[in-house]
Amino acid sequence: MGIPSHRDFHRTKVYPANYTLSLILRLKTNNNENMLLREIAKNIYLIQAENCGKFPYSFSFLLKGKKNILLDAGAGKTNLAKIKGEVGIDLIIISHTHGDHISSLEALAGIPCLVPEMQCESVRDINALGRRFIQNDEKALTVWKHFMVATLGVRAFNPSGTYNEGDVFKTGEHEIVALSTPGHTVDHFCFFEGRTRTLFSFDIDLTSFGPWYGHEESDIDSFISSIRRIENTRPAILASSHVPPLSDGISSRLTGYEELIYKRDELIKTLSEAGLSPAEMLEESPIYGGHPHIPELLIYFEKVMIEKHLKRLGLNLPK
Ligand SMILES: [Fe+2]
Repeated sequence: MGIPSHRDFHRTKVYPANYTLSLILRLKTNNNENMLLREIAKNIYLIQAENCGKFPYSFSFLLKGKKNILLDAGAGKTNLAKIKGEVGIDLIIISHTHGDHISSLEALAGIPCLVPEMQCESVRDINALGRRFIQNDEKALTVWKHFMVATLGVRAFNPSGTYNEGDVFKTGEHEIVALSTPGHTVDHFCFFEGRTRTLFSFDIDLTSFGPWYGHEESDIDSFISSIRRIENTRPAILASSHVPPLSDGISSRLTGYEELIYKRDELIKTLSEAGLSPAEMLEESPIYGGHPHIPELLIYFEKVMIEKHLKRLGLNLPK
């Protein structure tokens, strides 16, 4: 089955060949009727997210079989509670432990949930998770915690277990293998389903913003290697967390996404050669293009990203 274009995504009704009324769930959003489940390959579904998957929400994916596997839990509590109640979920796998991928877990209580082994302890304590992501700014850390808990509804949780590179999960129809793809975070994983050649790329997300690596633990070179790793799987479908799935031009889209890193390199190099200090560069905001929302967080993350570019360019590091 073909995949609708981005333009068609919110108005095209694409029913799975084997749909049942209970399977086709709908929700009302802004007076438009959108499908909650959209089949992107046989028995593989995108679960529509609040805010159309844009941050602070993210798409989830459901692999149906004898055992139904949910990938990620940031599509919104109402949406995922409907899937839990009307379709059933046997296992939740979290791609990485960012708030927008775990914020709906509260609606899925009682379902086994696996997280990446690396940094798995941090999800048991919001303070530990915050310290992991914001290490050098107490005000930004306070804002981060409020945003995660009060706005997104993120809660600390006790995962049922962990997974790691090469682990395989089976639904009875599909098998997905975990691919370690660090860079965005150290614990970022993608999953590859070989029968349909579907690559779940999560926050290698192909947004126009480009790769995001704003934590101390983030790493630009690792991000580049991860982009190339998923490209080397030669996916037929690329399903990311924040833009609709792609079936055409995947390789060129990944290349263009990687090139945004080099464009940032060039821009920051130019600013450095013009004599700007790192603090002055931050005011220019070469990556975000301004900090209109939650400025304490955006400024902190952009500062970290600029520092990473300066380091890899061998230029002056901030004091
Ligand atoms: Fe993320």
